[in-house]
Amino acid sequence: MNRIISVSNHKGGVGKTTSVVNIGAGLANHGRKVLLIDLDPQANMTISYGLAESDNHIYEAHSNGNGLKPISVRENIDIIPASVNLSEAEVELKVEEGAPNPISELIEPIKDNYDYIIIDCPPSLGLLTLSAFAASKEVIIPIQPHFLAVKGLAKIIEVVNNIKATVNRQIEISAVFVTMYDKRRILHKDVLDTIIMYFDDRVFNTKIRANIALAEAPAVGQDIFEYDKHSNGAFDYGKLVKEVIAMEDKFGN
Ligand SMILES: Nc1ncnc2c1ncn2[C@@H]1O[C@H](COP(=O)(O)OP(=O)(O)OP(=O)(O)O)[C@@H](O)[C@H]1O
Ligand SMILES: [Mg+2]
Repeated sequence: MNRIISVSNHKGGVGKTTSVVNIGAGLANHGRKVLLIDLDPQANMTISYGLAESDNHIYEAHSNGNGLKPISVRENIDIIPASVNLSEAEVELKVEEGAPNPISELIEPIKDNYDYIIIDCPPSLGLLTLSAFAASKEVIIPIQPHFLAVKGLAKIIEVVNNIKATVNRQIEISAVFVTMYDKRRILHKDVLDTIIMYFDDRVFNTKIRANIALAEAPAVGQDIFEYDKHSNGAFDYGKLVKEVIAMEDKFGN
């Protein structure tokens, strides 16, 4: 089994990194071998796992020709860290038909070591994100139920379709889910209805509620299951991970 997933939404602060960290941790707790790639020069995922920013990032591995050197951070979890210097890659990357994709090339020799490779994308649809899409089989989109959130969805769908038509026929938006959800807010329910209209059965049943423990855990370098396994955050991500695992039959090849 081998799933390569980009977690992406060009809107900032919607819970991408929080989701990569905690879905990764949840999968590892279920015995899956997971590689998490931090593709955001903000390096939030790297820092959330208690690592320092590092120039041992994915583009450096490409430039120096040494290949990826994943860092083991927990049982079943390895990480490729990021640093602010990763932004320099953006100028040099090319994502077009026929052009080699450094991320695919770097992943290829190590991909069979993992059940899941999950890429934390930056909040843009720039070349870093496009090259992640070019290397992925799936895109999973976390959405904050905000008035303008739905507007942005049309754009990301268009970009994924473009990638599918040109450099990567395999790619699919396999799932979307809402984060920082508050069921008492009518707007949140309305936005969820619209998301279901767009994505139908690809919307996860699990909604990630707003939960302060999710915001606190990265400050001490822990995932939510380590930080507070009784929190709503641990409950919600625990449930979401089961939905991710349930898709293995369909997307695991
Ligand atoms: N369910 C939640 N409840 C409360 N706070 C949350 C939740 N999910 C994320 N946060 C907090 O919201 C902020 C943004 O989350 P996160 O960094 O995961 O978003 P992001 O989409 O990766 O952001 P960026 O676009 O900057 O990469 C962080 O401070 C995070 O701790
Ligand atoms: Mg992030």
